[in-house]
Amino acid sequence: MSLLDKIDSVKKNFLADIEDFPRDNNKIIRLKSAYLGRKGKIADLFSQLGNVDSETRPRIGQAINKLKKELTILFDTKLNENLKDQKDIDAPYIDLTLPGITQSYGSMHVLEQTMQEIKDIFTSIGFHIAYGPEVDDEYHNFSALNIPEHHPSRDMQDTFFIDPLTILRSHTSNVQVHLMESEDPPIRYVVPGRVYRNEAISYKSYCLFHQIEGIYVNEKVSFAELKGCLEYFIKRMFGDKKGMRFRPSFFPFTEPSAEVDIWDDDRNQWMEVLGCGMVDPAVLDNVGYDSQKWHGYAFGIGVERMAMLKYKINDIRLFYNGDIRFSRQFA
Ligand code: DAH
Repeated sequence: MSLLDKIDSVKKNFLADIEDFPRDNNKIIRLKSAYLGRKGKIADLFSQLGNVDSETRPRIGQAINKLKKELTILFDTKLNENLKDQKDIDAPYIDLTLPGITQSYGSMHVLEQTMQEIKDIFTSIGFHIAYGPEVDDEYHNFSALNIPEHHPSRDMQDTFFIDPLTILRSHTSNVQVHLMESEDPPIRYVVPGRVYRNEAISYKSYCLFHQIEGIYVNEKVSFAELKGCLEYFIKRMFGDKKGMRFRPSFFPFTEPSAEVDIWDDDRNQWMEVLGCGMVDPAVLDNVGYDSQKWHGYAFGIGVERMAMLKYKINDIRLFYNGDIRFSRQFA
């Protein structure tokens, strides 16, 4: 019998063998080793290759390989099918009359809730919402905002650098620049987002936190409007009775500038919650707005501090340590 005939007959035998016990996996495994094992029939065929003349050897070698592959696939499919059937039989009895297991739902984090509240207040008075990059170049975070290199105000924000020109934004004010670069005035936006600072960590400062930036540019914009807008916002956030004050301040990108403090009943002291001011004409010029014609106000709200005052949270780190006992209180 030629080797090719032997290959054929091995295949025929196999098909007959596997018909005999289609459901018994132990037998199938034994059969598998009889065919595909180290001393099995396929190995035997390979060992006879040496006797074949070198011209036909490759063709016959290929035929044996093909058979080996076919058998392997057939065995594995058979084994798997049987396992699957077995599982169906072994599946536990399910008592559908038992009461169900209650699932506990997750809930929105208190910071997200606070952001939502702030966004809702501003959209209700005509602001749109926009987002911008957390990883940005130092031009948009600093230079375009009138904060030149080596200007001492860059020290106000110890910044995380990715490379000398790329940073994790230290405030959401970078998005003011992106928005004004891509849109013509008038514009009115609030921009929620994460910011990063390499700061000494304390009860009120963390290396990452959230801000909501506001920017309004139009032909006639006054400081009185800025004050009115922010007073309205604080009243809706905290009610009429909460103590608030505007305090003169300095930011390179606004002139004049102010900060808003809210009275912290628990600590019996003021806590600053936002910076604001009239957009400096130099910033408008940087983005190609005509600063003779257009004017604007801007503000940046610290979201964590808002939440701390509103919900009486005494340490900013509580927002970030992932303790579910904290989060649950705001569910
Ligand atoms: N970017 C400032 C900060 O992070 C906050 C700020 C102040 C934003 C004045 C403004 C602004 O838009 O006009 O401290």
